[in-house]
Amino acid sequence: MSRMLVAGLPRQRRLRDGLLEALPADPVEGEVRHFPDGESYVRVDTDCAGRDVVVAATLARPDPLLLPLVYLARGLRDRGARRVLLAAPYLAYLRQDTRFRPGEVVTSQVFAGLLSDAFDGLATIDPHLHRYAALSDVYDVPGRVAHAAPALARWIAGHVTRPLIVGPDSESEQWVSDVARRAGAPYAVLSKTRRGDRDVSIEVPGLERYRTHTPVLVDDIVSTARTMAVAVAGLRDAGCPAPVCVGVHAVFAGDAYETLRRAGPAAIVTGDTIEHPSNAIPLIGGLAEAVRDLLAGPPPVTEGAGGAA
Ligand code: R5P
Repeated sequence: MSRMLVAGLPRQRRLRDGLLEALPADPVEGEVRHFPDGESYVRVDTDCAGRDVVVAATLARPDPLLLPLVYLARGLRDRGARRVLLAAPYLAYLRQDTRFRPGEVVTSQVFAGLLSDAFDGLATIDPHLHRYAALSDVYDVPGRVAHAAPALARWIAGHVTRPLIVGPDSESEQWVSDVARRAGAPYAVLSKTRRGDRDVSIEVPGLERYRTHTPVLVDDIVSTARTMAVAVAGLRDAGCPAPVCVGVHAVFAGDAYETLRRAGPAAIVTGDTIEHPSNAIPLIGGLAEAVRDLLAGPPPVTEGAGGAA
C-alpha cells in the first residue's frame, strides 16, 4: 500500500514537516497563494491517485485560511486522493457554541459544516469542547482528538518544584484535574467572570495551605491572555509565588503576549500547536497518532477511479 501524503499551507512549514516526519509520509508539491486582489490560487502538482492525503493546517486566525483549505481539498480530490483528512492541531471556532444573545450566529456549527463538506475526517488536539460533549456533536465526519495533558504533566513534573496546578475557570477543570493527577500534584480552580472580549475578573479561593507550592496556571487557549494575566495578578495578590503559565494553544491575539508578560509570571510556556516563541511542549507526535488512528478506519465507498463518496 502506498504511503500517505501530507499537504501544507504557506507559513506553516514546521507543522507540515513535523507530520511528514512523525507519520511518516511523502510531501504533496504544489502552490497555495493569494493573487494581488486577495483571491486564492491553489495548484496541486503531485499525483495523489488512490492515496490518503493529510492536510496539515493549524487554524489560528482562521478566516483567511478557510477558502484556501476548501480549494486545496478539492485540488487533492481532483488529483485522485482516496481520502482527504484535515490535521488541525488548533481547531478554531469552537467557543461560539451557543446563542448567548438572540440573533447571534452559532459559528461553530457553520464552520464545522464547511470543513465537514470539504474533508473526509479530522484530527486535532484538545479542541475547546465546553457545551459540546464531543467533536461528533458538531462535525459530520469522523474525528480523533489527541490530548495534551500527558505532555503538559511531563513538562510540569520535569520543570516545576512542588507544583500546584491551577485552572483559571470552571471550564478548565476537565484539563487541570487530569494534568494534576498525571503530575502527582494538587489542583485548584479559580472563578472567572467574563464581561467582554478583554474584560475579565477572577476570584481566587483560599490557597493558604499551598503557600510552599509553585502555582502553575493551565488553560487550553490563550487568546487575548486576559484570563491568564488577571489570574496571575490574582494569585500574586493572594500571596502566592509568581505562577508559571502553561497554555495548550498559543493564539496570542494582538498585544496578548506582552500583556501576559507584564502581569509578571515566572514563565510562559505553550504547546507547539501554533508556532510561537513560547512553544516548549511538543504535541505534534500525538496529532500524528490521531491521524494514524483515523486512517485505520474504513475508507470511503468509491464510485469509479478517484471518486470519493
Ligand atoms: C475559555 O473558554 C477558554 O478555556 C480560555 O480560558 C479562554 O479562551 C481564554 O481567552 P483569553 O485569553 O482571551 O482570556
